[in-house]
Amino acid sequence: MSKIAIVGSGLIGRAWATIFASHGFTVSLYDLKPEAANAARIHIGKNLKELAGHGLVDDPAGSLKRITVAAGLTDALKGAALVQENGPETIEAKQALFAEMDELAPAGAILASSTSFITASRFSEKLKGRARCLVAHPVNPPHLVPIVELAPAPWTDAKVVEKAKKLYEKAGQVPIILRQEKAGFVLNRLQAVLLAEAFRLVGEGVASAEDVDKTIRDGLGLRWSFMGPFETIELNAPGGIPDYCARYGASLAQMQPQPGGADPFGADTVTKVMSEWPGTQTPERVAALSRWRDSRLAALQAHKRASKRKPA
Ligand SMILES: NC(=O)c1ccc[n+]([C@@H]2O[C@H](COP(=O)([O-])OP(=O)(O)OC[C@H]3O[C@@H](n4cnc5c(N)ncnc54)[C@H](O)[C@@H]3O)[C@@H](O)[C@H]2O)c1
Repeated sequence: MSKIAIVGSGLIGRAWATIFASHGFTVSLYDLKPEAANAARIHIGKNLKELAGHGLVDDPAGSLKRITVAAGLTDALKGAALVQENGPETIEAKQALFAEMDELAPAGAILASSTSFITASRFSEKLKGRARCLVAHPVNPPHLVPIVELAPAPWTDAKVVEKAKKLYEKAGQVPIILRQEKAGFVLNRLQAVLLAEAFRLVGEGVASAEDVDKTIRDGLGLRWSFMGPFETIELNAPGGIPDYCARYGASLAQMQPQPGGADPFGADTVTKVMSEWPGTQTPERVAALSRWRDSRLAALQAHKRASKRKPA
């Protein structure tokens, strides 16, 4: 099986390592801070055990054995089919890392960034190997949420995109391909609209933050774990999507925010949300909630895998 190089082994890098190793790939972990890569390997061992507990991984010990901590970037990239970059989210950091990776990676290797918002053309334009660079944006926690957004630059070779798609599919991921560059890609653009409206509703005093969360958790989110928004509305009007838009489109259009309105994420709204937020953020709370979220997501993934395929 091919070798995958993971560059940057923080929150996202260690999840990628979990994914690739548990799908039979050999993985080389690299981090600027060697202690981060060593700590990541310990964390990955726990991830793999939890996944095995939910029937999502067959051989956690064997998967962990396929992961090694590299002595340096050169060592990590040697013989890699794919380099997955997970360094800091700044253009400067991505440019510096991609310049190094392009210099050191084997000729046929794909260079992919996990960046959440930065388009590939911003860090690959000047590189000799720019045709092999693209964004492969995962969602936290990637080892439990399989979507990966493949966002090529205008000069990325179409064969590289196709090869990347097959590779992520082999690793159990669900890749989508953007047809043109767009900052934030698809997922974060959808999330941005929803979050802005959530902050506006709380800021204007329409609903509490807890009630907004309930609306997603016990409302929209239930359907969304099985169906997308288009599939959802197809079932909400007898004539499907066109009928839904004819019946409700004008009302939905009226709810769109006016251009140039107040910043929904401004300090006043954030203060209002926090004034009624029930929990105080501590590292212990974040760790406990993350563990709980991961175990529920694993159970949901197991359920989705066991579910019958949707009728055509
Ligand atoms: N956190 C999320 O929810 C999330 C989701 C999707 C994508 N991403 C993207 O993934 C990337 C990584 O985010 P994260 O949350 O894992 O950050 P993180 O801070 O947890 O990890 C970053 C790691 O990169 C290492 N690093 C810094 N400079 C490096 C270098 N030159 N070479 C090698 N390693 C280096 C750091 O030591 C650290 O361990 C970012 O681009 C982020 O936007 C994050």
